[in-house]
Amino acid sequence: MGLKMAADRFQQRLAQALQTLKLEHRYRHRQETERSGSVICRQQGRDYLSFATNDYLGLTHDPRVCQVFSEAAAEQAGSGASALIAGRSPALAQLERALAAWDGAESALLFPSGFAANAGTIMAIAGPRDAIFCDRDNHASLIDGCRGSAAKFLVYDRQRLDRLQVAMARRRHEFDLVFIVTDSVFSMDGTLADLNALCDMADQFEAQMIVDEAHATGNFGASGRGICELQEVESRIPVRLGTLSKSLGCLGGFAAGSHQLTDWLWNSARSQFFSTALPPALCAAAFRALQIVQQEPERRSRLQARSIRMRQLLAAAGIPSMKTGGSSADCRLNPEGSPIIGILIGDDARAVRISLQLRERGLLIPAIRPPTVPAKTARLRLSISSEHTEQQLQQASCAIAEVLEQSR
Ligand SMILES: Cc1ncc(COP(=O)(O)O)c(C=O)c1O
Repeated sequence: MGLKMAADRFQQRLAQALQTLKLEHRYRHRQETERSGSVICRQQGRDYLSFATNDYLGLTHDPRVCQVFSEAAAEQAGSGASALIAGRSPALAQLERALAAWDGAESALLFPSGFAANAGTIMAIAGPRDAIFCDRDNHASLIDGCRGSAAKFLVYDRQRLDRLQVAMARRRHEFDLVFIVTDSVFSMDGTLADLNALCDMADQFEAQMIVDEAHATGNFGASGRGICELQEVESRIPVRLGTLSKSLGCLGGFAAGSHQLTDWLWNSARSQFFSTALPPALCAAAFRALQIVQQEPERRSRLQARSIRMRQLLAAAGIPSMKTGGSSADCRLNPEGSPIIGILIGDDARAVRISLQLRERGLLIPAIRPPTVPAKTARLRLSISSEHTEQQLQQASCAIAEVLEQSR
């Protein structure tokens, strides 16, 4: 074909794929965003009231966290090596110990991001004679971990656990180990997994549970440990995954469980040992944030109250927020206090239009479209923060109601 022609072909293919995305209203623009606080974002010179970040407890701008970060960063910027080689700083080791103690686990292991923790852990623990049953709405990092592992990858629908039961009964004998992997709070609609039902299933079929608490860490449970704590299943989950990037306001991910688990991950999770370790400044900042989460439970109470209030305001305006099927009276399964609120729109182009109209009114509320969510389920997604005020919630709910009405 010749070098020049091959290069042209490559560029043409990229151009065509981008054009297809644009025609399908799935093209994403690169935006520069300056955050001047938990809920205010500045884009192209304009301030927006944001419902678009995962800074649930307002810790990204907390002066105590920032001070620890800047003091440590004044000494050292990057960690300079993977943790395995020479990057495991005292600050990193201290944070791992603190996360394990907080989580009630024997041990915790840090990864460069929550994505790396999820994908790397699953790929490291599930082997060719195993199977992984994965919720179809799980985060991409869990799905990529399942796809990248040598195990058989099977998908289930949490609204049809009867079918999961049938699949388990039919196929369990084919595999050595079987894993059930789930988010505890689903990132695209804020609904909660029924971990007791899944743990019962795991017990029945001798399966191992893997739970990603990314959107629950800091937010749920009496101590803020997440949905495993809220639903009282912590001792039944051998592999718990979390992130430092959301409620803890920093960056990084972790896996918590037995000494053997973290020892194995230390020795074999490729996203951990083939990647440079988290810098000490970030670890010190996350350690401080973790202390604040433990010492200031009022932050998560406020977050829950704000989340419930926003759902009430939307419901009063005739806007239903997304829920899982069924109407369980068990408040531990009820997403009312969940800080992610999905408003189903359906059509991709309409969802984008509505999001843009909200932006014109000074609100940053993203439209989530396929392939991030299934076809025909495009939605608005609001992420609530403990720092949103009543007046801001009212402003947003009124604007959403008006824009939805106009777009009918
Ligand atoms: C459910 C879930 N798990 C994991 C991640 C990845 O976490 P991180 O952003 O720390 O890489 C995300 C991030 O958006 C998420 O929503």
